[in-house]
Amino acid sequence: MATTETSPATAAKSTSSQGSLEIRDTRTGKSYNVPVATEGVEGDTFVKAMELRPIKQSDDEFGLLSYDPAFMNTASCKSAITFIDGDKGILRYRGYPIEQLAEGATFLEVAWLLRKGELPSAPEYKQFVHDVTYHTYVHKNIERFLEGFRYDAHPMSMLLSSVGALSSFYPQAHRISDPEQRNIEIIRLIAKVPTIAAFILRHMRGLPFVYPDNDLSYTENFLSMCFRMTEPRYKASETFKRALDILFILHADHEQNASTSAVRAIGSTQVDPYSAIAGGIAALFGPLHGGANEQVLVMLNQIGTKSKVNQFVDDVKSGKGKLMGFGHRVYKNYDPRARIVKKLADQVLAETGSDEDLEIAMELEKIALSDEYFVKRKLYPNVDFYTGLIYRAMGFPTEYFTVLFAIARTAGWLSQWEEMLLDKDQKIARPRQIYIGPGERKYNSKLNGK
Ligand code: CMC
Repeated sequence: MATTETSPATAAKSTSSQGSLEIRDTRTGKSYNVPVATEGVEGDTFVKAMELRPIKQSDDEFGLLSYDPAFMNTASCKSAITFIDGDKGILRYRGYPIEQLAEGATFLEVAWLLRKGELPSAPEYKQFVHDVTYHTYVHKNIERFLEGFRYDAHPMSMLLSSVGALSSFYPQAHRISDPEQRNIEIIRLIAKVPTIAAFILRHMRGLPFVYPDNDLSYTENFLSMCFRMTEPRYKASETFKRALDILFILHADHEQNASTSAVRAIGSTQVDPYSAIAGGIAALFGPLHGGANEQVLVMLNQIGTKSKVNQFVDDVKSGKGKLMGFGHRVYKNYDPRARIVKKLADQVLAETGSDEDLEIAMELEKIALSDEYFVKRKLYPNVDFYTGLIYRAMGFPTEYFTVLFAIARTAGWLSQWEEMLLDKDQKIARPRQIYIGPGERKYNSKLNGK
């Protein structure tokens, strides 16, 4: 792509040859050797799709394409950021197990790790926290922009528009080949997304905006901007503060999911990062992706009582809807994040008082995990199953949950965006298609007919 830099975290990669595939084309009788490569510590094995292109029957033919709707078996990039083993239920950021990071790290430490490939030293961390804190304010015009939305606008619509609008405040952000420029825009985004997110919550509630308090930590400042009323300084509950920081860590990255792929594809056009991240937020909004945490609570409300769980599960099995917060494209085992979130839900709800929906959720999980339909399809709770209960206990409205996901995922999107920019293999993303429309036909207007 555009620059001569190399990403420190990807520089160490090495590909080794693993023999080849012999392909005989029965249409022509010709044989081809397609090299098989293996790469990375986990030994991912692959062939390059472009190796199929020479396979053709005549010179004027385009060549063999691979057809892979929804990218079920296509690696779109090489990445050194996040590792998932979906069968074993493993998630690691830059090699560190998610359980250890959730136990000991802070979200900003993880944000640094994702981008830089190594944990920050004490002085690096101090400087990073300072830089992020310094950039938390947003232009007054962003407030006016937000005020233009109706009170009942969906918070994700407001978030994706406002983050997109930020690109108009920083026109120099298009200089994506300049490392210093990238650095400042990355810091701005990590700093300003929580401020915009909090302003959105205040707008939804008709409350005045609360400005950032730079003496508070990242998470506590966010809670203060969301919930401070008349008190001179907001004091968050220790349990909420740590729980939210852990939830931000768990949501910070998840390799090549729909929104990250959207950020990479948009970023591959060399547009500024605000526009790329706005696209990521749009992708996250969908109910099959980040929007699932909102849908879980909608579902629990629909079920209403524990006694109706069996009936609900039967309805799902007969094709009437899905069990939201269950299933995952990659995890065919318990999502390791869901395990941590379940524990957190217990801690938070112990502080706020019991919740009938938690009991319904636990009953649902118990029944689904022993039901043949779910077992056969390897459907386990994913990260979204219990997060909504925690967010609600903290005082966030249901339709706001995905915004919390987006705040955290901004760190991952930006790391993936920068990795893509520094990857010499990448170009503008441009998939092929299998054309199935009509052949050439003559235009004959139908507008003159009756
Ligand atoms: N409830 C009931 N059945 C399901 C569910 C579910 N949640 N998920 C998958 N299935 C069934 C599906 O109907 C299919 O059955 P069959 O083989 O009989 O046709 C089978 O399981 C395989 O499903 P799939 O649709 O091929 O799986 P996928 O990898 O394409 O979809 C998914 C993954 C996450 C979109 C899907 O499991 C789903 O819609 N889950 C509910 C929404 C959700 O919780 N999303 C959050 C994902 S985790 C956080 C994030 O990424 O944002």
